[in-house]
Amino acid sequence: MKELKGKVVAVTGAASGLGRAMALAFADEGMNVALGDVADTSDVFAAIEAKGVSAVAMKLDVSKAQEVEAFAELAEKELGGAHVVCNNAGVSPLGATWETSLGDWQWILGVNLWGVIHGVRSFVPRLMKRNEGHVVNTASVAGIISPPGSGAYNVTKHAVVTLSETLHHELRERSSAVGVSVLCPAYVPTGIADSERNRPAGLEATVKTKEMLARQQMLRKAVSSGRLSADDVAKAVVQAVKENRFYILTHPRIKGAIGARMEDILQERPPRNPMSL
Ligand SMILES: NC(=O)c1ccc[n+]([C@@H]2O[C@H](COP(=O)([O-])OP(=O)(O)OC[C@H]3O[C@@H](n4cnc5c(N)ncnc54)[C@H](O)[C@@H]3O)[C@@H](O)[C@H]2O)c1
Repeated sequence: MKELKGKVVAVTGAASGLGRAMALAFADEGMNVALGDVADTSDVFAAIEAKGVSAVAMKLDVSKAQEVEAFAELAEKELGGAHVVCNNAGVSPLGATWETSLGDWQWILGVNLWGVIHGVRSFVPRLMKRNEGHVVNTASVAGIISPPGSGAYNVTKHAVVTLSETLHHELRERSSAVGVSVLCPAYVPTGIADSERNRPAGLEATVKTKEMLARQQMLRKAVSSGRLSADDVAKAVVQAVKENRFYILTHPRIKGAIGARMEDILQERPPRNPMSL
């Protein structure tokens, strides 16, 4: 999509971090914005309106199909329908694969994977109908490599990468003008290391082992010392939408670990630990 001015973007996870930055960056392009989040988006709403474009906001849980559908309807009713959709909301509980509680598996699959599936099911038919638009799914480098200690997170992000690749092929097969990108950043300073704040009541949390608490500390440190800001990543997303670029790899240094995984697969040898490369 070359021309963004006057068009509409819908962003989930818009209250904080990458979602907030994407909402603001698309508003800077003159787009009207639909904001969705379980958390309050009123400050980003005000910041967007101050840029002279329109905004609507909805409190929604992306793991619930009806709520994502209602979000797509709201964008249609109030702003004329989304052209760009950023399926971005995410959480990141940690834990070794066998220690992760059922509640955490359900929570993270619900938000990080079902949230994107619902976004695709609600928005893509609308984009196809107008034969214009772009879908941006937020995965992670953890969708291309498999760092230990975050198995549930990796599962959701690998799934988002393959969902996005498949969607891309399906749209190309139909000669649709709708584009797709998958965003795969490494560490960016946002609220992701504190995603426990959004844990829904009633889902059993993983029992925190010493090792897990140490990893949590490492994650918090890595996230807070990320060199690229959320605004830098959001600018890269806007550029990718304009250029219709599929993979958005914001941290090129990670390509060594990606290459190692690809080689290990092709050579049929045991995978090397990406954290020790
Ligand atoms: N920050 C990083 O280092 C990093 C790296 C790679 C990928 N990501 C991905 O980026 C995306 C955005 O995360 P972030 O880093 O900006 O973290 P963040 O915590 O700052 O933002 C996540 C947003 O998602 C919202 N959210 C959580 N559960 C929700 C739900 N059920 N329904 C609707 N909204 C919900 C939160 O309220 C929050 O506003 C996530 O998918 C994350 O996995 C982040």
